[in-house]
Formats: sequence, C-alpha cells, structure tokens
Amino acid sequence: MKNFKMLVNANDKTGHINREIYGHFSEHLGRCIYGGIYVGEDSSIPNIHGIRKDVIEAFKQIKMPVLRWPGGCFADEYHWKDGIGDKSTRKKMVNTNWGGVVEDNSFGTHEFMELCELVGCEPYIAGNVGSGTVQEMAEWIEYMTFDGISPMSELRKKNGREKPWKLKYFGIGNENWGCGGNMRPEYYLDQYRQYQSYCKNYSGNELFKVACGPGGGGEDWYNWTQVLMKNLNPDQAKGISFHAYNVPDWIDKGSSTEFDSNDYYTILNLANYVDVMLTRHTEIMNRYDPDNKIGLIMDEWGNWFNVEPGTNPGFLYQQNTMRDAIVAAMQLNIFNRHCKRVIMANIAQVVNVLQAIILTEGEKLVKTPTYHVFDMFKAHQDAECVYCHTDNENCCGGKSVPMISSSASVKDGVMTITLANCSIDDDAELSCDICNFDAKEVKAHILTEDVHACNTFEDPEKVAIKPHDVKLENSKLTVKLPACSVVEITLN
Ligand code: AHR
Repeated sequence: MKNFKMLVNANDKTGHINREIYGHFSEHLGRCIYGGIYVGEDSSIPNIHGIRKDVIEAFKQIKMPVLRWPGGCFADEYHWKDGIGDKSTRKKMVNTNWGGVVEDNSFGTHEFMELCELVGCEPYIAGNVGSGTVQEMAEWIEYMTFDGISPMSELRKKNGREKPWKLKYFGIGNENWGCGGNMRPEYYLDQYRQYQSYCKNYSGNELFKVACGPGGGGEDWYNWTQVLMKNLNPDQAKGISFHAYNVPDWIDKGSSTEFDSNDYYTILNLANYVDVMLTRHTEIMNRYDPDNKIGLIMDEWGNWFNVEPGTNPGFLYQQNTMRDAIVAAMQLNIFNRHCKRVIMANIAQVVNVLQAIILTEGEKLVKTPTYHVFDMFKAHQDAECVYCHTDNENCCGGKSVPMISSSASVKDGVMTITLANCSIDDDAELSCDICNFDAKEVKAHILTEDVHACNTFEDPEKVAIKPHDVKLENSKLTVKLPACSVVEITLN
C-alpha cells in the first residue's frame, strides 16, 4: 500500500469544463453506423426509424453532449447529396478508406440529425474539403439550416423536413494533412479560408467553424498549429482540431486483450504524453490568442490496437479492457485540467470501432469499461474545474506515468473528484484535504478488476461500477484505491 496526500481547493477555480469534453465520434467505418447505431426500420432489433433504441438509451445515460459524424477519413470523400431522399434510389459508393465495402447511404443527414435529437446531443458535422467543392459544402449548410426559400431548403422540405435543424459545430475537412488531401499547412490554410467564407449563418443559426489542426506532437505539428493560429481569427475559426491516438507501433499495434505490464505502461505513457502535447499546442495558441477565443478540439482520441482476430482489418474492431478504462480516466482528467483551452473532445469511436464505449453483436449490446468511465465522470460536465494536487510518483520504472490521476470540479454545490490508480502493482491510500467546501455527505463509486478484464456478450457485467467506502472527517477525506481502479467521489 502506498500513501499519498492530496489537496482540493474549491475557491481556486481553474476553468469551465465544457460538457463537450465528454463528446463522441461516429464514422462510416466497420460496424459503427451500420449494425452499431443503425439497423434499418425493418430490423427485428427495437428501433426508432432504424436507430437502435438500446443505443439511444445508453447514450442518454452518460449524457452524451455532442456526436461527430460522418468521419474521419470518410468525411473527405462523402458527398452528402448521395445520402438524402428516397432510400431505394440513394447512390451506392465504395468506402475506400475502410475495407472497400459498399456504402448504401441509407444513413445520411436526416438520420444523423434525428439520432442527435433523440439523444439530446449537439451534432458536429465534418465537411468534405479533400474531394468536395466549396459549392457542395455551402449547399449542405444551406440545406440543414436555412429557413427561407432557396433551392436547398426546398429540397429539404421535399425530403420531409419542413423546419431547418440547429447546427453549431462544423468541421472544415478532416486530417487534411493526411487522408483529407495530403496538404501542407499553408495550402490547407488558404483552402480553409476560402471554404469557410461560404459557410454562412442562416436564419439565426450560428456556426462554430473548426479548422483541421495538428495530428500529434513534434516540430511539424507545432508548426501546423502556428501557421493556423497566425493567420486565422475567431470569425473565421472558433476551434482547431487535434488528433492523437495511443499507438505503440503503427505496424503492429499489439493486442487489445493480451498484453504484459510493459505493454500496459507503454500505452499509459503515450496517454500521459497527451498532456505534454496539449501544453505545447496551448502555448502556441496563447501567443496568438491570449483571450482563448479559439478553442482546441481533441476530436479524435483513444487507444488503437490490432483488430480482434478473425475480423475485417478495415473495420478496426477491438475489445476494451480495464486498461482502456484507466486510459480513459487519465485522459479525461487531463482534458479537465486543460479546460481553459480544450473545449471539446471526442473519443474514437462510439460503437464497435477502436476504443468504443459500446459493442454490439446482432441484438446484443455490451457497455465497455470505457463506457463506465464516461458514466462516472459525467458530473464534471459544465462544472467549474478546481485546484487539485497530489504528491504523486511514477508507477513504473523508466516511463512517465503518474500513479494517481485526478481532477476535481464543483457545480451547483456538489464537488466531484475523479481518480485513477494507474498502477497495476500497488494499492494506494489517499488522504485529501478539502478546502473551502462545506461537505456534509460523501459517496463514492469504483470500477476495478484485473487489468485484462473486459465485458463480453457472454459476461456483459464483468466490469461494472460498484459503491465504494470513503471516510470524511473534518474536511479530510480518506479513500483506498486498489491497483487498477477508477473512483468517483461526490461531496455535498
Ligand atoms: O478513427 C479512425 C481514423 O483515424 C479516422 O478516420 C481518421 O480521421 C484518423 O486517422
């Protein structure tokens, strides 16, 4: 057992935690949309206009604030007009990025917007810069948001939607340094400036335009951020994106379920490095935008492993263990701490792809350990982040992995503290001074199991949230954190 001291000061507010930090990402990739979210109206799986009811309920339970769509790399070859109108005549296309399968476009703009309405989350749409046109993008915005008389609003009405939707978040391209066109930063910048000029605010709808930002740390990526920040103002871009996956080796990414302690700490080391990259990108942004008018949007993040044996390599289907839960907790705590600049984050991806929160097989649905972390952390949404310090130590030799990951927030007289013991070797006990907060009641929940444990269709509750004992005496909180655990504490 290792002992740590911690201090939380409710008077020291360090920023507002936008609820969108707890956001998600869905792409036309593998079984994310088809089978995962959408099964079609004729399916025997309970659905609303083809959208799975169990998935809607699961999304609502974690108060999903925002959902990004249609990609990813798919976004820069998606032509939105192929996904509207009578389904029997919608064009079929080949999904060149993800397995070369046929995309029948049965899930398009209307279906996505309905999904967001059913869940009660903000839609975040990525437009096509790589293989699209300025006109195509401009017309999509007009189609979705214009309330007057115009060719696109008439087309929308003809397709059954009289009133426009509200659309806030709109990304202009995706990974345009890679699958979105292999552009240099200067070229993308000019493209961005042109495209965004025609993304208009119609009928009281105000777009929050997001430029494609960097894809990691290192000088080229810091330069990408610098080129954008130097040449864009908040009227042109309210956010720039940032993508960072935890991948030890792109050739052999390792198994999602079979790993040793070295593999475990390697992934945690990568997840923790996100903190360093965010700090560096934030420093650059601060130089050009000291008032935080342009936000950093981590719109793809998570663990990326080899696909499950026997599954389509282009579908990126992987299992999800307690290791993923620890990484999710660590990264969400990092995002909370960076909340002045990081205003949205979308884990990749929401169902059946990469670090998914949900796995489906036919009518069966499993909530992964990562799902439970989002459930435990949801009280941070729209709360004020407060000072939270632990006298930490690294939990493994040679790698930078703080043993205790933590963050704290206050909202409506309730303090929430989220913790992870990242060690798989040592238990910990935390003695925490709670300053400037008069707590009468305390309760806690824990997620803990062997690091390899996962939820399967045969054993869907193996990793589950349970109540946990904590002690509060004279503003001193004492809590035990078993090795490999995530704990959420509520004080009020
Ligand atoms: O999430 C899978 C892919 O990873 C996305 O399509 C792309 O944006 C990123 O490279």
